[in-house]
Amino acid sequence: MALIEVQALAKTYRTGLFRRTVVEAVKGISFAVKAGTVAGFLGPNGSGKTTTLKMLLGLIAPTSGAAFMFGERLPSVKARARVGFLPENPYVYPYLTPRELVEMNGRLSGLRGRELDRRTDQVLESTGVLNAAHRQARTLSKGMLQRASLAAALVSEPELLILDEPMSGLDPVGRKDVRDIILAQRSRGRTIFFSTHILSDVESLCDDVVILRSGEVVESGRLRELLGGDVIRTDITLANVTDALFASLQSAGKAPVARMGATTLSVRGERAVREVLEEALAAGADVVEVVPHRETLEDVFMRRAGAASAPPVMAGSSPT
Ligand SMILES: Nc1ncnc2c1ncn2[C@@H]1O[C@H](COP(=O)(O)OP(=O)(O)OP(=O)(O)O)[C@@H](O)[C@H]1O
Ligand SMILES: [Mg+2]
Repeated sequence: MALIEVQALAKTYRTGLFRRTVVEAVKGISFAVKAGTVAGFLGPNGSGKTTTLKMLLGLIAPTSGAAFMFGERLPSVKARARVGFLPENPYVYPYLTPRELVEMNGRLSGLRGRELDRRTDQVLESTGVLNAAHRQARTLSKGMLQRASLAAALVSEPELLILDEPMSGLDPVGRKDVRDIILAQRSRGRTIFFSTHILSDVESLCDDVVILRSGEVVESGRLRELLGGDVIRTDITLANVTDALFASLQSAGKAPVARMGATTLSVRGERAVREVLEEALAAGADVVEVVPHRETLEDVFMRRAGAASAPPVMAGSSPT
């Protein structure tokens, strides 16, 4: 079942004098996020991720198209109550403490008394802010504020978590904590949809990905299928390579490199791998290593979203 379903969703911002500058931030995108999965939302700066997430949360209205959460057409108060949201740059009132922030969110979602205390302690602990729970927000670092805001999103134990760059501003330990929180949430059957620029986090966490470019979906689906494609290159390492073998590989255009007693070369295609290995073994060389390389998420990202994209701003149509 799809927990989030987006159909031809579009958002056009109008800004500037007489609202003449038109920004097509999201251009009629469609995708779905399945229940119980971790889905990554990727795309270069300005590709429309935050705009899309804000439309899902009902913070801005779409220009056209439709979105559904838990099968309810948005905007829906009922659906919104089942979602925990971490905004891109969480604003926390400077004199509020993390505990007050989390309690306030808990109360807003109907928690009271001992249950509120228990859940507050639990999320402050799991996000690593318990020891700073009584400090005012204005004295906290960016990373601590990010953790406190994540705690606030988790306190109601929402079925769906929508996180806009949850790892931003966090040190490596903080990033690992957030990864662990996301995995712990998934193991409890929750669904997580989060935007990020950190591709290695997506590779280690996500079941599915949606990649945006200039307000359009350029790739979406199972991460494993996206990356499970053909071997794009094989690195071969040989030892005991004679000068004659080296020269032969070189003249065959295999570009061997000799370093510290080993010779390495990269080849494309199964046939080329077999040819090199046969020739090397026949010449008495030793095969130290044969490493096939498949496309990484970075390769996919650069291919689909990385090329210089047209700015989404359209010229104003009215004369000055
Ligand atoms: N309130 C707004 N008014 C006008 N234009 C906006 C507004 N918010 C966003 N935009 C524009 O819409 C486009 C998409 O922005 P958005 O913030 O959704 O991108 P993003 O993918 O979240 O980028 P980032 O990775 O930098 O967070 C950008 O060109 C941005 O300048
Ligand atoms: Mg953003």
